[in-house]
Amino acid sequence: MKTFYVTTPIYYANSLPHLGHLYTMIVADTIARAKRQRGIETYFLTGTDEHGINIERAAQRAGRTPKEQADYVVSYYKKMTAEFGLDTEHGGYDIFMRTTAPFHYQGVSEFWRKVAKAKTPKGNDAIYKGHYEGWFCAACAEYKTEDEYAKPKAEGEPPTCLVHDTPLDRVSEESYFFRLSDYAEALLEVFESRPDFVRPEARRNEVISFVRGGLQDLSVSRLKSSVSWGIPVPDDPEHTMYVWFDALINYITAIGYGNEERERAVGFKKYWPALHLVGKDILRFHAVYWPAFLIAAGVELPCAIVAHGMWLDPNGRKMSKTLGNTIELDVLQKHFSIDAIRYFCLREMVFGQDGRFGYEALIDRSNSDLASGLGNLSSRTLTMIARYCDSRIPSGVIPEDKLLLAKRTGVDTDETTVAGFIEHARDQFLLHFENLAFSRALEAAWSVVARIDKMITDAKPWDLAKDENQKQTLGVILYRAAESLRWLSVLLHPVMPGASQAMWNQLGLQGSPAQTNPSELKWGELKEGSSIGDVQPVFPRIDKANVMAEINAAEEPAGVHATEADAVAGSASAQETQPAPPMKHATEADAVGVTSFIEIDDFAKVDLRVGQVLSAERVPKADKLLLMKIDIGEEQPRQVLAGIAQYYEPEKMIGRKVVVVANLKPRKLRGFESQGMVVAASYGEEGRPVIATFTEDVPNGARLK
Ligand code: MSP
Repeated sequence: MKTFYVTTPIYYANSLPHLGHLYTMIVADTIARAKRQRGIETYFLTGTDEHGINIERAAQRAGRTPKEQADYVVSYYKKMTAEFGLDTEHGGYDIFMRTTAPFHYQGVSEFWRKVAKAKTPKGNDAIYKGHYEGWFCAACAEYKTEDEYAKPKAEGEPPTCLVHDTPLDRVSEESYFFRLSDYAEALLEVFESRPDFVRPEARRNEVISFVRGGLQDLSVSRLKSSVSWGIPVPDDPEHTMYVWFDALINYITAIGYGNEERERAVGFKKYWPALHLVGKDILRFHAVYWPAFLIAAGVELPCAIVAHGMWLDPNGRKMSKTLGNTIELDVLQKHFSIDAIRYFCLREMVFGQDGRFGYEALIDRSNSDLASGLGNLSSRTLTMIARYCDSRIPSGVIPEDKLLLAKRTGVDTDETTVAGFIEHARDQFLLHFENLAFSRALEAAWSVVARIDKMITDAKPWDLAKDENQKQTLGVILYRAAESLRWLSVLLHPVMPGASQAMWNQLGLQGSPAQTNPSELKWGELKEGSSIGDVQPVFPRIDKANVMAEINAAEEPAGVHATEADAVAGSASAQETQPAPPMKHATEADAVGVTSFIEIDDFAKVDLRVGQVLSAERVPKADKLLLMKIDIGEEQPRQVLAGIAQYYEPEKMIGRKVVVVANLKPRKLRGFESQGMVVAASYGEEGRPVIATFTEDVPNGARLK
């Protein structure tokens, strides 16, 4: 039997998922469903990457062990995948892979040993011990060369990462190296002989020129004394494997490499090689390092590495927690159906290129393509079948003696015209789908929606219904529409599994579009005389004004004052609260409606700093208080309490940039010392807080003047 294996990247277990992570899962899930629908035995992997200094640090900041940190993030991922219908229970992934799984340790160790024994194509040892001297970005988990970092802002300071704008770590220690430099020719040969190995073409060209530019050997271990959270190097436990080395190997340990039990349960032999789906941000690891490791270990290369673009915000800026412009999964889930989100992601992003994601665009597309388009076609067809044909599928054939009559009303009596059109659209759909050009595939499907809509509008079934002689003509129009809907529900199953099943059920069909191979669809198999199901709107219209108002209100929570003093008002005891400062007397400025002036020196007394929230949690028995650890560029993060808990979920705060009053006298609130104050606007009667933030990247600790 044919098999197929598709993977998403495994996501870092240091922070919670957002739309970007969901997207790759949706694409992989769509591909997996399409393969299964064609009867191919399919394995779909997603999961988390749980080792390395970044997770170690995130855990430290949150006061957890690294494993607890990973468990926390994984529980969120699992909840998210269930809610979005992407888990095993909903027909989605087959494994949620975790690199802390013992079988992974076993497989990775075996892989390392293989590579350590191997010779490079030039006859050298593939792994050797040396000394690493250079810069490392913990967030990227990547060593950075000079053109990959920004020069230090001041003398004596470290350079900063161009992606994260955070200081790099200086690494100067003994390290194992993978002799990547010896693999350039072998890799170029692969890219040459397998033009589809790295896709799309533009990305393939980038990878080729990167390799042609010369490869440097790669440091693949850190001393345990600097990074302990990882897999120990076999036979040298003073070294911890480089997190990317361990992470990439997950794709094979998950299915049984190096572990017999997994081999029996899944089957490396059965499923490998895989199609790897990745964002373009991590292409180099997958298209250069990973194949080189595999060549060294003597393992077959993946089928392909396909890189998609990045989701940007509606203004074209990269989505990031720092900018606060990420699309939050709970907002998506609250206002939109899973199918609409899946459709939008696949229709809106030209695969391989960057795309823009905005709620308004999502609503517009949902309303036009789904509610007014496909949904309307489905409900108008079925409603007419209910009304004019007693809820039974009419005959698709016009009897000889009614042909002339039908022709006179302008109806095409040759059914092969519409059948031919749909077969062609189906072929186009499948071709584009096979090339992962989802947007174009969906365009082909929607050409059917437009064509059938026009057929109905031109034929005016409501007029035909008034003429008893035209009963068969009317029936044929509705049959063609219903049969087209059957085809559409099969084609669209991988993209919108819920809606396609709903359309299928409403047509009164048995079984499922999930088990109908679209290549085997035959025109006319919809059975005359069968009863249709209950007619219900498949895609309800979204009230744009209302939904946008709700989203905006949730995004800009008006609120309780974000200040530390306000935080206690109403929640803490009176003696903990500082008395409000006495009112200043009116000055001349007040008299003309201007707030009293201060001197610049007065303002300069307030030390305002850019901070980033590292952890946030509720304070027991204080409804309004959040206890946060905030990095303001000092050696230790500040502990700050803020009265925002009713409006900001603790998880939502993590990673956010805020403004902190850094020289406020520390004070105790509810037994916790607050070492500063978070600045926020406050409006509305209840004084809802809106935390001040930045729309551009800015390093922690920067002073506001
Ligand atoms: N842990 C590594 C991957 C190891 S794979 C052996 C990693 N993790 S990550 O959490 O940073 O996830 C990166 C991936 O998330 C991207 O490659 C992409 O698949 C997805 N995305 C994250 N942000 C995204 C967008 N804004 N847009 C689209 N996809 C994005 O890198």
